[in-house]
Amino acid sequence: MAGVIAFRATGDEGSRGPGGFDAKVAAPARVYDYWLGGKDNFAADRIAGEAAIDAYPAIRISARANRGFLMRTVSYLAGERGIRQFLDIGAGLPAWPNTHEIAQSIAPHSRIVYVDNDPMVLSHARALLSGTPHGITAYVEADLRDTAAVLTRAAQALDFTRPVAILLLAVLDHVPGLDQARRIVARLLAAVPPGSFLVISHAASDIDPDETAEMIGRLNEHLAEGNFTGRPRDVVARFFDGLDPVAPGVVKVTQWHPRSELEARGPASLWGGVARKPQTCRRAEPTRKPGQHSRPGPGPRGDDDPAPGNQQGPDFMSVTSPRQPPPAPATAALPHHRVRTWMRSNGESAKTW
Ligand SMILES: C[S@@+](CC[C@H](N)C(=O)[O-])C[C@H]1O[C@@H](n2cnc3c(N)ncnc32)[C@H](O)[C@@H]1O
Repeated sequence: MAGVIAFRATGDEGSRGPGGFDAKVAAPARVYDYWLGGKDNFAADRIAGEAAIDAYPAIRISARANRGFLMRTVSYLAGERGIRQFLDIGAGLPAWPNTHEIAQSIAPHSRIVYVDNDPMVLSHARALLSGTPHGITAYVEADLRDTAAVLTRAAQALDFTRPVAILLLAVLDHVPGLDQARRIVARLLAAVPPGSFLVISHAASDIDPDETAEMIGRLNEHLAEGNFTGRPRDVVARFFDGLDPVAPGVVKVTQWHPRSELEARGPASLWGGVARKPQTCRRAEPTRKPGQHSRPGPGPRGDDDPAPGNQQGPDFMSVTSPRQPPPAPATAALPHHRVRTWMRSNGESAKTW
């Protein structure tokens, strides 16, 4: 199966300009891009990024260390565990190497679905959608807190009867309610079969605690939602409850399978870990409500789940190989959708209607 698929929520862009993003207010994806040395950020993001650097100068290296963690975990899962499907939630702006580049360099048939709720990330999605002609690379614009929407749309590209690696890198720290964050993780895990993996990295509140607390406080003064939250190691470790941990467990991201002593000793203010869903998952699943299923689908929204502005139904774009249709289209479950399809052969030409 070749090609890429992207789904976009149809939101009210209001006064935010054609991309739907507000350049005057700092956004996590763009601040992070600034720390990584990227160019996809605005003055507001740079001001926020500098305020954070002022409080915690190692934040830039820490951001890079998090990308290193992404690279090593995806390589490990694709190379040593044979994982061929990745659901990368809170994907961020493209930063080479991205998940599909890592996974498809090991297994060209790999399927990757990126999810983010930042319209700026959507506007750069093409760079994330340059997968191999053999694999699938898809982008879903959705809010992590709307797990049903994430799973329904991801199911158009991923086969949820086969193992999936769920990547939640530096994104649960934007869900300040711990119960809500746990429920999100539980719902995602309930949708994937045994043999699937969970990968989490999370801002730490107990590494350089004074500096990071100051850094988080300053950053939140600039971010629209102001919801950035650090958590201690034991709380991050509990996201993996009921799963089989991959050694060395939850550690500083630099210490997870480091490629060198130097890397292992590098500064990082994030905890990271990987674990596998066992045959019998001892994890307490989220409370099911009538009509809610563990398989992906548009189940009822939990009380704490927001309506992230896409209630009119998604705008659906897909790019697929002319040779084969996308797998198991679930568009019937997505009312009022508009379909635009780009046919692309080896990433060269595109046609829209
Ligand atoms: C710090 S970046 C991390 C990017 C990438 N995962 C990494 O670790 O390199 C956090 C990303 O999460 C996204 N994000 C934050 N809250 C989100 C939410 N509720 N739903 C989906 N994405 C979210 C932001 O837009 C941003 O792109």
